[in-house]
Amino acid sequence: MYAHQLPFQLCERSTRELLVLDFPEEDIYVFRKNQFSVIFNHHQKITKEEIRNLIIDGISTVFVSVIDNERIEENLLDRLRQNARSLSVGGNPLKSSLQHVSLMTMNMQNLYDSPLNDEILKLLYQSSGNLVGFTSDHKNVVNKLYHRMQSEPFHYSRLQPMLSSVMLLGFMHYLKTFSARETESLFITSYLKDLGMCYVQQDSLDKDELDQHDKKALKVHPYNTLLLIENRLPINKSQLEIITHHHFLNDKITQIKSGDKVTLDDSIAYGLETYLVAVFDVLTAMISDRPYRKGMPLFEALDLIRAVMAERYPLEFKALVHYLKNFFKD
Ligand SMILES: [Fe+2]
Repeated sequence: MYAHQLPFQLCERSTRELLVLDFPEEDIYVFRKNQFSVIFNHHQKITKEEIRNLIIDGISTVFVSVIDNERIEENLLDRLRQNARSLSVGGNPLKSSLQHVSLMTMNMQNLYDSPLNDEILKLLYQSSGNLVGFTSDHKNVVNKLYHRMQSEPFHYSRLQPMLSSVMLLGFMHYLKTFSARETESLFITSYLKDLGMCYVQQDSLDKDELDQHDKKALKVHPYNTLLLIENRLPINKSQLEIITHHHFLNDKITQIKSGDKVTLDDSIAYGLETYLVAVFDVLTAMISDRPYRKGMPLFEALDLIRAVMAERYPLEFKALVHYLKNFFKD
């Protein structure tokens, strides 16, 4: 069926999000061989097994009606709310925290689509606090969370804030020098720092070279994040400062990679918290695959981090190497 033959306007959703939609109001479509075909009929019960099989077959996106799209968004919010409440109630810590970060990532996707939605923004803020509190009682789940999430079929731009923040969270637990309050504050800062990326077209991010509009939107995304969260969340001045400068290492690393000498004089202006957010952001990005390049080996990435961090924060860099050795041991 071609687009003009469809009975209603369609919205693209991730296949796994069908988990929160037991019975669709309208037919659900997939796009194959240049046309749409119905994969689930309206009011047909969708089972976990069917969703899993679609994902195994490489069908990571489906197309739903506007009504079902709204129902998915509502249900994702409800599920995250419920999950946040039940997170600390017994059960399997890895399973419940994994469910929590998956729901956060799906809601983050919705927030990127509607960045002015206060309900999602505030729930993600609270859920970040819930996750930090939960992992401080279950520190051993953090690295498993990272590895499990890394293989989930989310777009990398929506997954990256969670991956870098989870790895940072594990490091803060490992260092034991941050109070519970500081750990929560830094995790939230790291997790929300890229919200301004919502103005960069998601499809463009799959290409090596961006067009002028997206290039500019990418460059100013830390400032757009500030505009989006200031006065809407209880974020303090130092968190806003960290968000503003969270890419201060990127240019230096690009210069080192191309064999240029870099000066680190201006880095003195940045405190440890800014360093850590920037380091985990760039590190997790470098070692992860992108549609247009393969991820770099950890050892190579750490060598670049050493060049920008070891002089200013030698003890923390040493601790980072130790921490990562265990993080990637299994
Ligand atoms: Fe960023």
